[in-house]
Amino acid sequence: MDEILINGGNRLAGEVRISGAKNSALPILASTILGGGDCVITNVPRVVDVLTMGKLLGILGVNVLHEGNRAVIQAEVIASTEAPYDLVKTMRASVLVLGPLVARWGEAKVSLPGGCAIGSRPVNLHLAGLEKLGADISIEHGYITAKAKRLRGARIYCDTPTVTGTENLMMAASLAEGVTMLENAAKEPEIVDLAEFLVKRGARIHGAGTDAITIEGVRELHGGDHEVIPDRIEAGTYLAAGAMTHGDVTTTHCRPTHLEAVLMKLREAGAHVQEGKDWVCLTMPDKLRGTDMRTLPFPGFPTDMQAQMVALMSLAEGTSVITETVFESRFMHVEELRRMGADIRVEGNRLMVTGGKKLTGAPVMASDLRASASLIVAGLAAEGVTQVQRVYHLDRGYERIEEKLGALGADIRRRPTTMKVH
Ligand code: EPZ
Repeated sequence: MDEILINGGNRLAGEVRISGAKNSALPILASTILGGGDCVITNVPRVVDVLTMGKLLGILGVNVLHEGNRAVIQAEVIASTEAPYDLVKTMRASVLVLGPLVARWGEAKVSLPGGCAIGSRPVNLHLAGLEKLGADISIEHGYITAKAKRLRGARIYCDTPTVTGTENLMMAASLAEGVTMLENAAKEPEIVDLAEFLVKRGARIHGAGTDAITIEGVRELHGGDHEVIPDRIEAGTYLAAGAMTHGDVTTTHCRPTHLEAVLMKLREAGAHVQEGKDWVCLTMPDKLRGTDMRTLPFPGFPTDMQAQMVALMSLAEGTSVITETVFESRFMHVEELRRMGADIRVEGNRLMVTGGKKLTGAPVMASDLRASASLIVAGLAAEGVTQVQRVYHLDRGYERIEEKLGALGADIRRRPTTMKVH
């Protein structure tokens, strides 16, 4: 296991190129199961979760050629329709093969993902939707089994807007007989990106990006080429890092329109933010000001930026109230930030973050992906050295983070953890 060491206090300045979106690449890769023909996917981030999805597709018998940020995938024939526990337990997004498998091959056996650092994260809405599409669903020995001769279009209302649930059902409905209406669908940009890729391959989808998506099923999908959209959460993370160090950071190859809520909160915190077609430039000339935020489904403030903003608010003037409404317990970063001197009170799903104090470097433990990112952001501004352990959590969703931060002027390095034998 590696650890990352940061000697805090350097002002970040310069340009950082944003990678492709992990949460778009994952459903897009899973969707290759839906048809034969070559799929050439570019701007694929080289992060562990994407490599894990490639491994899963390989286990299913899909041909996957993943070189650098490009993947060529060919799913003419599937050798297996089972996603094993040993792999699914390392990445919940493996559930994204469920819809495509049952839609194309009439059956799927996918391990239940199990718990996760940020909450129970059930998949009941995925399963309820697939049942509406005519799949027989059963859960035995920790596995979901889904069977259907051919799925039939249906009207599906999701109790809560679920990102991967919407993606799973949109993929499954693409090959169903008849028309499917997904209501109260999630509206994230990653869903629009997946829909655009499916339409290139012959799917008939309208309304992606709104809360009502119509899918007219077709018999089969052919191959297609696609460039994955930029990662809005990676961009938000580097902009927060720039604000944290009173720096001057420009994120390039990004989509400012996907970052509206985050840019609004950074401006409320005192940042000067300029936006171009595919770039955002942030400077933080004045003092950091506290501001309140509430995580919501897109286009609201993204839950995946909550932990990073808590780190930022721990240096800002005043008390900021940060409410997490999407997941039930996404506060794994709080205890670790407290060890660095942050003043954070937890009241139910709300955090009261009182700033104005300094942060000091400390050995801290990464847990889930975004909690780990918040420890890095805090370490950049902390006095002294922060040692972030178990950085494999970070490597799941951030491509070359220490290289990109180092190029912006951070004093940061990665080293293998010296296993201390006690
Ligand atoms: C996606 O997870 C993202 N992952 C998450 O990013 C992100 O935090 C989340 O959406 C919210 O934006 C990927 O896209 C691979 P949900 P997902 O289903 O789809 C409840 C990261 O850091 N729910 O939208 O699993 C659920 O418990 C990761 O990159 C049900 O109750 O999230 C949660 O409270 C972390 N039943 C809410 O809905 C279901 O069947 C939203 O979850 C499904 C979800």
